[in-house]
Amino acid sequence: MNNPLMNSVSANDSNAANRDNDSVTIVEVGPRDGLQNEKQSISVETKVSLIEQLADAGLSVIESGSFVSPKWVPQMAASDEVFRQINRRKSVRYTALTPNMRGLESAIACGVEEVAIFGAASEAFSQKNINCSVDESIERFKPMMALAKEHGISVRGYVSCIFACPYDGIVSAAQVSSITQKLFDLGCYEVSLGDTTGVGTAPETKTLLRQLGAQFDISKLALHFHDTFGQAVANTYAGLEEGYRVFDASIAGLGGCPYAKGATGNVATEDVVYLMRGAGMKTGIDLEKLAQAGSFISKSLGRPSQSHVGSVLASRAQSE
Ligand code: HMG
Ligand code: MG
Repeated sequence: MNNPLMNSVSANDSNAANRDNDSVTIVEVGPRDGLQNEKQSISVETKVSLIEQLADAGLSVIESGSFVSPKWVPQMAASDEVFRQINRRKSVRYTALTPNMRGLESAIACGVEEVAIFGAASEAFSQKNINCSVDESIERFKPMMALAKEHGISVRGYVSCIFACPYDGIVSAAQVSSITQKLFDLGCYEVSLGDTTGVGTAPETKTLLRQLGAQFDISKLALHFHDTFGQAVANTYAGLEEGYRVFDASIAGLGGCPYAKGATGNVATEDVVYLMRGAGMKTGIDLEKLAQAGSFISKSLGRPSQSHVGSVLASRAQSE
C-alpha cells in the first residue's frame, strides 16, 4: 500500500523542496468539470475540437470526459466517442472521471490511460453526488484500483467540499485529511482538493493547506478551486505561496457541479496562466493560443467567457 503519511521531518524536507520548484502543472478540467454542467447539448465534434486546441496551447493534462451514469449527468454521455476521436499526443495525458466499475470498464474499452475516482469530505455530498456514503465509496473504489492496476492505469483521487458542503455546512480539516488519507491508501498517485462550492478565502486556504502540508507530501496534492464567490485566483495564489504546484483550472471558467446548486465554474485556466506568468512560474502554456481556445468554446456556447484574461485578450485580438 502506498502510504504518503510521512513523519514530520521528511514531510518538511520534501515540501520545502517542492516550494523551490518553479514549474507548475495545470490540469485542464474544462471539457469535463466545465461542460458537465451545460444545459444545452454540445456536439462530440465541438468537444474534440476544444480538446485539440487545449493540447495545441500546451496543456499537458486534459480531463476529457466522464464515464458516469447518463441519467445523472447527461452531458457526459458521449465521452467514449470523444476519447475515440481525439488525436492523442504523447505529450498529453487525457484523463476521465470514473465513479464505479462500470465506468472504469467503459474507460478501459476506449483506451483511457488515466482515470479519477471522486469522493467527498462530507457525507451528504457523497450521497447526493454518487449515491453512497463516504465509507461505501471507498469500498466501491477498491476493486476499481485493482482493475486499474491490472491495466497499468494511473488513478487520481478527488476530495469534494474541502471548506463547506451545500447540504452539511462547514467541513473540518480533519474530515478533509481523513478522506485524503483513504484515497492515498487506496493507491491514488495524486489527490485533488476541491472547493466545490467556491466559498473558501485565501486566509482559510492557507490555514487548511498548512495543516495538510504538515501531514502529506504536497507534491502529491493538487488544488481545485471553483470561483463562486470570486476567490479562486486569490486561493490559487495562496496555494502557490504554500508550495503547492498542481492546479486544476477550466478554460473560460466553464462549469460547476450539477450536485452543488449555484456553484459556478472552476478558476479560469487563462487567469491561472496569467497569474503564474506574473509569479515567474513555468507552465509550458501559450497564453494567446489558450485564449483562442477560450473564445472558441465561449462562442460555441453562445455566451461571454468567465475569464477576465481571456475576455481582454479576445477583445484585443478583435480590434487588431
Ligand atoms: P446509482 O443510481 O446508485 O447507480 O448511481 P446504479 O448502479 O443503481 O445505476 C443506475 C443506472 O445508471 C443504471 O441504469 C446503471 O446501468 C447506470 P438503468 O439500469 O437504470 O438503465 N449506470 C451507468 N451508466 C453508465 N456509466 C456508468 C454507470 N453506472 C451506473 N458508470 C452512480 C451511482 C455513481 C452511477 C451515479 O451516482 C453517478 O453516475 N454519479 C456521478 C455524478 C457526477 O458525475 N457528478 C459530477 C462529477 S463530481 C464533481 O464535479 C466534483 C469534482 O469536480 C471536484 C469538486 O469540484 O469538488 C470532481
Ligand atoms: Mg469541480
